[in-house]
Parts: sequence; structure tokens; C-alpha cells
Amino acid sequence: MKAAVLYTPQSNLMVEHVRLIDPQPHEVLVRLQATGICHSDVMVIQGTSTVPMPVVLGHEGAGIVEAVGEDVTQVTVGDHVILSWAPYCGECFYCKSDHLNLCEAYAPRVLDGVLLDGTTRLRSSAGEEIKHYSFLSTFAEMTVVPETCCIPIDRDMPFAPASLVGCAVTTGIGAVRNTARVQPGSSVAVVGVGGVGLNIIQGARIAGAERIFAVEINPAKEQQARAFGATHFIDPLAAEDLIRSETGGLGADYAFESAGRKQTMEFAYQLARRGGTVVFVGVAESTSMVSLSATQLTRSEKHILGSFYGGAKPSRDFPAILELYRQGRIKLDELIGARYTLDNINEAVAAMRTGRYARVVIEL
Ligand code: APR
Ligand code: ZN
Ligand code: ZN
Repeated sequence: MKAAVLYTPQSNLMVEHVRLIDPQPHEVLVRLQATGICHSDVMVIQGTSTVPMPVVLGHEGAGIVEAVGEDVTQVTVGDHVILSWAPYCGECFYCKSDHLNLCEAYAPRVLDGVLLDGTTRLRSSAGEEIKHYSFLSTFAEMTVVPETCCIPIDRDMPFAPASLVGCAVTTGIGAVRNTARVQPGSSVAVVGVGGVGLNIIQGARIAGAERIFAVEINPAKEQQARAFGATHFIDPLAAEDLIRSETGGLGADYAFESAGRKQTMEFAYQLARRGGTVVFVGVAESTSMVSLSATQLTRSEKHILGSFYGGAKPSRDFPAILELYRQGRIKLDELIGARYTLDNINEAVAAMRTGRYARVVIEL
């Protein structure tokens, strides 16, 4: 099959022939139909996030089940699926307490770029090992993934918008519905209006938030932020004053961070009112540390919540999100700024890096 391989950071992806080893027990071979390019993929290409290489990136995909390994029970050949990047073992403390996104089997394997059994299915044409990315490696015509990554969907659901449910949409909407449980009538600040931030905004809108403040350095994001439900669009320099004046001097009931930076995490903490809720959604560089006022941490009684993959349970949340889409309550197609083919993936990455688009999608 053809796949886009990254050999070193800050270089082009090489679209070349790659060998895929058959799915092992509890694994599934998926013929990919569409994949989004997420900020996290771009960070690896830029070198701001490091993973084992060579690697096939991509973790926001949808496709059709082509073959299944032994003992697979969750899908059958021909099923249309959205891929979740968080497989789970079903046996650890977190799986048993229904926190699938915190499964203990996940972290060590994802860092090593391998599947759950510690090995890889990707080989170069010379037979050398190629690493997986987030278990999915969707910048390819096909992929082998753990079966718990495969969430079946209706066959009439178009693949391009479906693919985005695999990362940005679930991360954003899940942060609102699962992690923060935003209440109707509340005020919500969202720092960073990218693919994830727009989904926090539309999640807050359907949760019945009354005021939604989009805080963003790039003025070009205003129209889209408003279309997704923002009632205010504010430059960070003006945000604190404006949010206070619009909330009777208090600050926002909820402040979400979706830019993935230390500074924006600290800023989101500032924007929440005393007793309010701060939700960290973006994933910052692993070396950075946040600095918050030690007195205020206690005195202001703000609730600080981390939200990883929107606190999602994909088998429950993906279908629920698709139902909201079907009812016209959330936008998915509007997230797609441009479409490319696998052969043109480097142009697609460059387009993502301009900051102009919430998402670009590769159609496979
Ligand atoms: N203040 C406000 N907005 C900012 C700031 C800042 N200081 N710095 C960056 N931004 C904005 C960018 O202009 C952009 O619109 O944050 C947005 C980030 O969006 P994307 O780059 O599209 O990233 P996205 O895919 O939404 O992911 C956001 O979540 O999953 C993680 O790794 C991902 O950390 C990233 C975050
Ligand atoms: Zn992502
Ligand atoms: Zn587990």
C-alpha cells in the first residue's frame, strides 16, 4: 500500500510503498477513506513533539473494515468505522471503572509507536520497521489497528466529516459534555479557536451556554468562531476586561484552554470566575510547566479539570455526536477548509500550518 512516511522532523513526508503485516488477534485491517490532519501531527512534523521514527502519522480517520484478525468481535468485514486513537485493555483499574481514556495499557505503547502487544505491522519496502502513531497511522491507504479503536457507523455517513469525529470533534464536544458538564445559561471562555476550540464552542452552544467568548490571537478566525456559536470574539489582550464586564465583574463560569500552550493555560485560569471551572484540553509540549498563583489556587476555589480526548468513551460518544450532526445541531462539514489526496499530503500539511483552516482532510 501507499503511505506517507516521516523519517526525520522538519522534513517532507515521503509518499511511498509500505508493507502492512496481517492483523493479529484482536486487530483489524481498515481501508482508510479519509483522514484529518490534526495539530498534534503537525507538531511532530515541526519537531515540537518527538516520537520514534520512521513513522506513519495521522490519528483522525475513517474507513471500511477489510479484514479481521482472530477473536475480533466488535466489527466485521465491510463495516464502516471511525477510528478512536485510544484503544483500551478492558482489564485495568481505569477500564474497569469506565475511564477508558485513561487505560494503563495505552501510555507506554503510544510513546513507543507500537500496537498493544508491543510490536509493529508497518515495514518499508526494504523490510525495515516503521512505527505507528497513536495506534492509527492514518496517513496511508490502509492500517492495522486494535479492535477497540474501531467504532462502527452507519453506511450513509460521509467519511470526510466522520473522520474528524476521531479527534478534534470528540475532544472539544467531550470536554464540554463529559468533563465540564456545562450548565444552561452559563458563560464560557474558549482560549484558542482551532479545530478543537471550535468544537468546544459548538458543544457549549448545544449545552445552552448564554455567553461564549472566543479568545484568539488570529483575527481571521472570527467569522468561523461566530458561525459555530461564539457570542463574542476577543483578542487575548482585551479578553480579561471584556469578559469581566460582560459577567457582572465576575469572570467566566467555565474557561477552556485549547491552544496547547503553557501561557494560554495560565490565561484560561485567569479568565474563570472564583468558584468557576478551568478545563485544560490542549496538549502542551511535554517539557513545559505552568505557573499559577499559590494563594489564588486556594482562595479562589477554582475547579481545575484536565480533559484528555474529551473524557470520551468512543463507543458511546461517536454515535451520539453523529446523531447531533444528523439532527443539524452541530457542524462537521464546515470544519473542513480544504481537501487533498495522499500524493499531495505535504501541501496539505503546509495548508494546515498557515493557520487558515480548522482542518484539512486527505481523501484516500
Ligand atoms: N491566545 C489565543 N489563541 C492562541 C494563542 C494565544 N496565545 N496561541 C495560539 N492560539 C490559537 C491559534 O491561533 C489557533 O487558532 O490556538 C488555536 C490552536 O488551534 P490549532 O492549531 O488548529 O490546534 P487544534 O488542532 O485545535 O488543537 C489544539 O489540542 O489536541 C491538542 O495538540 C493539540 O495542543 C493542541 C490543541
Ligand atoms: Zn488530534
Ligand atoms: Zn485498561
